[in-house]
Amino acid sequence: MEKNINILAIETSCDETAASVIQNGNTVLSNIVVSQIESHKRFGGVVPEVASRHHVESITRVIEEALHEANVTPKELDAVAVTYGPGLIGALLVGVNAAKAFAFAHDLPLIPVHHIAGHIYANQLEHDVKFPLIALIVSGGHTELVKMEDHLQFEVIGETLDDAVGEAYDKVARVIGLPYPGGPEIDKLSKEGIDTYNFPRALQDEGYNFSFSGLKSNVINTLHNERQKNIEIKPANVAKSFQESVVDVLTTKTMRALDEENIKTLIVAGGVAANSGLRERFETLTKENGVELYIPSLKYCTDNAAMIGAVAYEQYKRGDFADLNLNGYNYIDIEDVIY
Ligand code: KG4
Ligand code: ZN
Repeated sequence: MEKNINILAIETSCDETAASVIQNGNTVLSNIVVSQIESHKRFGGVVPEVASRHHVESITRVIEEALHEANVTPKELDAVAVTYGPGLIGALLVGVNAAKAFAFAHDLPLIPVHHIAGHIYANQLEHDVKFPLIALIVSGGHTELVKMEDHLQFEVIGETLDDAVGEAYDKVARVIGLPYPGGPEIDKLSKEGIDTYNFPRALQDEGYNFSFSGLKSNVINTLHNERQKNIEIKPANVAKSFQESVVDVLTTKTMRALDEENIKTLIVAGGVAANSGLRERFETLTKENGVELYIPSLKYCTDNAAMIGAVAYEQYKRGDFADLNLNGYNYIDIEDVIY
């Protein structure tokens, strides 16, 4: 029998301090996530300096808890993996430095992982996903269509030209008075509304790139005009109309990409993959078109370290290691390797 490979994975790219022990790339021995959402709520969004400080306070405890829960000692580990970008630089550096110190202290190889690769590989934790595939990554910082012919081969075929879809959700939520993070709030509220506004569907029938800033401005301007005219605004209808526009654009473009690339497997990942409207629409469309659909369960959609461990296992098999000069990067293209 082959030896089990245990990887300690660390993720601190935004507002979650997370550590996990993953066995053979898909067995989650532990998955600790400490969310900072409560601290950022009163500012209406993530404050980078506050995020870094919280990561510093929590990282050691989170790593200890991950090892404890997995019942694995540092000696039983084969590698340490860490998200090295993209993300908030001060936040990333906390995880990168913790990983470097741990790797050095226990003489373990260090595996640098791209955050978006992590979101895509979240699916490997629950399914044995086959290639080729198309992945739609929708989160607070990213909106990308990625084509994969095989493990660790990422080709970006479309991306947002301005705002990420999660960012648009959070901004629109703020305008209609919902707390941060607004995505889940709009999702919930939209169930009670009707699409009365018919907001624009930017670039829906053109290429694979996305644009959400026009939609966001359109929502803000429409509400402003209605308020000036003393028209009563029904937040549920705004939420539903906004969500319908987003879901139409995301699903239309993704289904077209699958058709044009002749690919029969779709992965949807990232925080916005938790969206019920998006999940339902994709379930219907993929069934109609004979496409296999994979969406992670909710706990693996938002930021976590288990997904980082899933990518790291593939990198481990290839000996894709970094040395102790590893840095964090605020922006890295998933197609490039920079360490
Ligand atoms: O992947 P994630 O946890 O962090 C980033 O890497 O950005 O994504 C967070 C984003 C936030 O913008 C949040 O509002 C959005 O995901 N989100 C949702 C839902 N749940 C989380 N957006 C729409 N509907 C949801 N149910
Ligand atoms: Zn993320």
